[in-house]
Amino acid sequence: MVVMRKTVIAALTVLIASGLGVLAQSNDPITQRQNLMKNNQEQVRALTGMARGQAPFNAAAAQAALQRIAQNAQQIPALFPAGSHQGKTAALPAIWERKADFDARAAKLEQDAKAVQASITDQTSLQAAIQRVGQNCAGCHEPYRRKES
Ligand code: HEC
Repeated sequence: MVVMRKTVIAALTVLIASGLGVLAQSNDPITQRQNLMKNNQEQVRALTGMARGQAPFNAAAAQAALQRIAQNAQQIPALFPAGSHQGKTAALPAIWERKADFDARAAKLEQDAKAVQASITDQTSLQAAIQRVGQNCAGCHEPYRRKES
């Protein structure tokens, strides 16, 4: 009986500890959104490599990268909660002055990343897709992200 109780307590402790770990992670929207943006960049890099012929063209892989960008975009609005302009972040206060515009830009990125997928058949169409999608990245960074000094 005593042994069993100890085992149960040990198991519970592990559960609680891992639960707290997850909480600690999800409590930091700045890290989360920066990781998400880094992932965006990885996807764009993979797409650009294919468009330039540095990697073999693969329509399915290109579509998967764009799908990931669309999924990432969906998460952007929630990762910029009010008050998260403080700390190690390049997010400008303008985001929260015009949050509706900011969120709309995330939605537009999602739409475009989905819309272009069907058009990708070769390097040329991929290049056009990257341009259309990429405008959303630069277009949002310009007003809302602090430039590196
Ligand atoms: C709706 C606005 C918005 C869109 C769209 C957007 N970004 Fe960002 N991005 C930001 C903001 C704001 C930051 C600064 C985040 C911070 O430091 O807290 C950022 C940061 C970044 C960073 C730096 C991450 C780091 O290491 O700190 C990269 C890289 C990046 N974005 C890539 C992209 C790419 C690629 C796309 C398009 C596929 C994209 N972003 C689309 C707003 C946007």
